[in-house]
Amino acid sequence: MSDMKIQPSRRLRGIVPLPGDKSISHRLAMIGAVAEGETNISNFSSSADCHSSLCCLKALGVEIEVRADNFVSVLGRGLQGWLPPQAALDAGNSGSTMRMIAGLLAGQPFSSTLIGDDSLSRRPMGRIIEPLTRMGARFEAWEQDYPPLTIHGGGLTGIRYSLPVPSAQVKSAILLAGLLADGITEVLESTPTRNHTEIALCEFNAELTVTGSLVRVVGKRPLTASNFTVPGDSSAATFWIAAGLLVPDAVIEIPSVGLNPSRRGFIDFLKSMGADIQMLNCRESNGEPVGDLIVRSSELEGGLLDPNRVPDLIDELPILALIGARSRQGIDVRGAQELRVKETDRISAIVQNLRALGAEIREFEDGFTVSGNQELRGGVVDSFNDHRIAMTFSIAGLLAKSPVWVKNAGCVRISFPTFYNVLASLSK
Ligand code: S3P
Repeated sequence: MSDMKIQPSRRLRGIVPLPGDKSISHRLAMIGAVAEGETNISNFSSSADCHSSLCCLKALGVEIEVRADNFVSVLGRGLQGWLPPQAALDAGNSGSTMRMIAGLLAGQPFSSTLIGDDSLSRRPMGRIIEPLTRMGARFEAWEQDYPPLTIHGGGLTGIRYSLPVPSAQVKSAILLAGLLADGITEVLESTPTRNHTEIALCEFNAELTVTGSLVRVVGKRPLTASNFTVPGDSSAATFWIAAGLLVPDAVIEIPSVGLNPSRRGFIDFLKSMGADIQMLNCRESNGEPVGDLIVRSSELEGGLLDPNRVPDLIDELPILALIGARSRQGIDVRGAQELRVKETDRISAIVQNLRALGAEIREFEDGFTVSGNQELRGGVVDSFNDHRIAMTFSIAGLLAKSPVWVKNAGCVRISFPTFYNVLASLSK
């Protein structure tokens, strides 16, 4: 699949099956790989990114079984049982794979090299190199910041670290390294970020406590393998939430979605704008909140997103920009400079593509202002090989006056390989 043509739609009905959450799947595989015993994971993410994590772990000697029904079993080798890899470990397009596995590799008594694709090779790694170096690992990186990343691991000591950038990946890399360090590792965050690592580590019986904004983990304590069911990916759900809200006559059901409060900023913001999103059957799965959603067409107000909430919906900002164009007063997003160092420069991609569909948007270094009440015309947009840009502008095709062509749409496989199957399955 390279280009996709999306037809406008006036009506939408159906049930959306989501892939398992990508963030949670990465973590369970990695932590399972350093636990004692067999970790069984149902509804593991089918994403190419999580496949990259599994491939890296296999290259480190971890036995992993992957079944066609997205069941994955990981045979843990204990905290320091990984084997030195025979070749560079390929994280593909996945920042989560590279940054989080680097934390665990920093504590292994051998050297390893992490590589990635062109996009990942341009993403900053200094943010993990700095704290992990302080813990005692040694790094080599292109211009001290970019992959390939060579890690000379072992001999770690716990540190107390205040995160300079709100980043769950960086927090997780430090906590995972802390599992292998002498003493106690503490991470302080001034703005909360997703807490899946903390939840998962508790499920594996790590000695971890969270007190306000301080996370504390005790090193060198063996972890116990466990069984997990991964909730549906809340970031994958957002595209269908947007479609359900903005297509004029729509009712969309999305069962078993992760509703962790640290990932719910998108839903909360939309509800504050008047979105009709019902949450039913709220329950818990391995410490993670889960529920079923029903989304119906709604008039949305628009408004200013509180910059402090940006980390809660960082991956949702492209689809939020599209929603802004169809809201009454538009949407302002600032404090989101991190978007410039995602899979592509997402601010620039959003601006170019919305303009290509005839919409008005102002670009800032750290965000954008998209005017409300705008009709989108059809046209050609580019995914910039970024899965969330491809999915956002595919949904734009449902809302535009004439068809939208999304160039290089195959990248949806990075997080949501069945995205276009879901689109085809909805009744229009
Ligand atoms: C992720 C955290 C976020 C997010 C990424 C996944 C995670 O990145 O954008 O898609 O799983 O921890 P940062 O932690 O770099 O903000």
